[in-house]
Amino acid sequence: MIKTLVTGGAGFIGSHISEKLLEDGHEVGIIDDFSTGEQKPKGANIITGSILDKDTLSKAFQDVEIVFHQAAQVSVPESVKNPEFTKKVNVEGTKNVLDMALRKNVKKVIFASSAAIYPDVKYPVKENEETDPQNPYGESKKEAEDLMHAYSGENGLETVCLRYFNVYGPRQQSGVVSIFLKNALGPKIIKIYGDGKQTRDFIHVSDVVRANMKAAFSKTSGESFNIATGKGTALLDLVSAIEKTSGKTLKLEFNDEREGDIRYSCAIVSKAEEVLGFKAAVGLEDGLRKTFSMI
Ligand SMILES: NC(=O)c1ccc[n+]([C@@H]2O[C@H](COP(=O)([O-])OP(=O)(O)OC[C@H]3O[C@@H](n4cnc5c(N)ncnc54)[C@H](O)[C@@H]3O)[C@@H](O)[C@H]2O)c1
Repeated sequence: MIKTLVTGGAGFIGSHISEKLLEDGHEVGIIDDFSTGEQKPKGANIITGSILDKDTLSKAFQDVEIVFHQAAQVSVPESVKNPEFTKKVNVEGTKNVLDMALRKNVKKVIFASSAAIYPDVKYPVKENEETDPQNPYGESKKEAEDLMHAYSGENGLETVCLRYFNVYGPRQQSGVVSIFLKNALGPKIIKIYGDGKQTRDFIHVSDVVRANMKAAFSKTSGESFNIATGKGTALLDLVSAIEKTSGKTLKLEFNDEREGDIRYSCAIVSKAEEVLGFKAAVGLEDGLRKTFSMI
């Protein structure tokens, strides 16, 4: 049993990571400002506050061995509207986490990076693809990754960046799958921005949790990994999959593309498989069924 800290542990992915750690018998602290998250995993020691507040961070880091850094300003449209705030939370916040990790002799920090650091290209991307974020959110994740790599090895600190693609699953508040699924259950019309042929690599949150565990309990440090399935799905195919699994017909409305949205997103996933022994196990239809059953 070890003492862990999940920043952003009240959020969608952070709460699933926290629950898994608790289930496995670890001690879990959470630091979250509850700006978008609202979960309070049972058994976790919850500290309400921001990763921008060093005093609160200092309390949260007491005796911690592994940090799962999930807290962030996560909205792409919000990052376009307010890039400075996004940079503050996502870059300065990550620096605070890393500085505190060094100060408190933390062993390892795992960072929730994003597919948003890649260029908008039609082919599946590998970790060594030159980064080219298409919006301020992606830029902030890239800067935070650079910090993670710069701190790797400092005072024995291990760092790993997990580049999540489109994560979905129970308890998600935003994100295309969650919005489509919730609307599938009601009479609402689903808004599609663009022609619906844009692709995303959808990964179920249980797989993302598993990837975090593999990264945390491996010897790997100073590396970034794509965390995805390796399959690109067009939004219109996502709609078909939701119709198939729900038995409902979705009503669609096509709107202009949104600023900052990318067209293509799909990963090559061999590095995580070879180095971490991680491979996504939940297929899209299966994952949608699991998510549906919990809404
Ligand atoms: N969901 C996805 O598809 C996806 C894809 C790529 C990367 N990510 C990354 O994964 C992480 C988790 O995302 P999520 O989907 O669970 O989003 P989320 O909004 O559910 O979780 C983020 C959590 O961080 C908290 N938070 C925000 N600012 C904070 C601050 N200053 N101090 C403390 N807590 C703060 C929020 O209250 C929330 O609980 C984020 O870093 C996000 O950028 C998510």
